[in-house]
Amino acid sequence: MKKKITIAIDGFSSTGKSTIAKLLAQKYNYIYVDTGAMYRAVSLFAKNNQLVGVNFFKKEELISRLSEITLSFKFNKKLGFAEMFLNNENVEDEIRTLEISQLVSKVATVSEVRKKLVAEQQLMGVNGGIVMDGRDIGSVVFPNADLKLFMTASADKRATRRYIELNDRGDKVNFEEILFNVQERDRIDSTREDSPLILTNDAVEFDNSNMGIDEQFDRICALVDNLIIS
Ligand code: DC
Repeated sequence: MKKKITIAIDGFSSTGKSTIAKLLAQKYNYIYVDTGAMYRAVSLFAKNNQLVGVNFFKKEELISRLSEITLSFKFNKKLGFAEMFLNNENVEDEIRTLEISQLVSKVATVSEVRKKLVAEQQLMGVNGGIVMDGRDIGSVVFPNADLKLFMTASADKRATRRYIELNDRGDKVNFEEILFNVQERDRIDSTREDSPLILTNDAVEFDNSNMGIDEQFDRICALVDNLIIS
């Protein structure tokens, strides 16, 4: 029988982590967990309760209300992946807006938020057979993951991808604003005190500025195959 391994994918925003993760989960019949969606859902809760905005953050109040937040993933057969639910409401679309992208890094600096989400993520991975993407998966959530991938690409390429994605959804967005958001999130995610985004020395790095999905996927599958049959 093939071994069910744990695959951790970390990296900067819009580096195609979730695309690769979804393909891997489909191919190997693994669970896919998008941890960014969980931080985004907490940010949506905070925004809807006037606890966070571009110019304010009621951090202590958010901490005291964390017990009101229940997150769950429900698999959508049509889409082929699990959608994010916040207190039993499907928030998959609402969490993907530029507005939430502008608030989420701030919310993700809060240790109490991270503690709650990391505990939930670790529980989802107890049986292996999981591919999880985020910023601290290989460093904090699953430091013993069988395979750690670290994705990177130039900020310009990433902002272009994000611009196309949001435009396709029908959101009115401005390229400069997206580029600024990508760079600002890189800065906050990499310099925060609790669980910053780091390249661990046991991770395999992929710079996909000039590499297509097919090539990356083939290379990553070769790494996975090597682990599950050995
Ligand atoms: O993957 P994403 O762009 O949807 O993530 C949104 C934000 O959530 C990201 O800017 C930082 C934060 N995040 C985090 O701090 N830790 C994770 N494991 C995943 C996301």
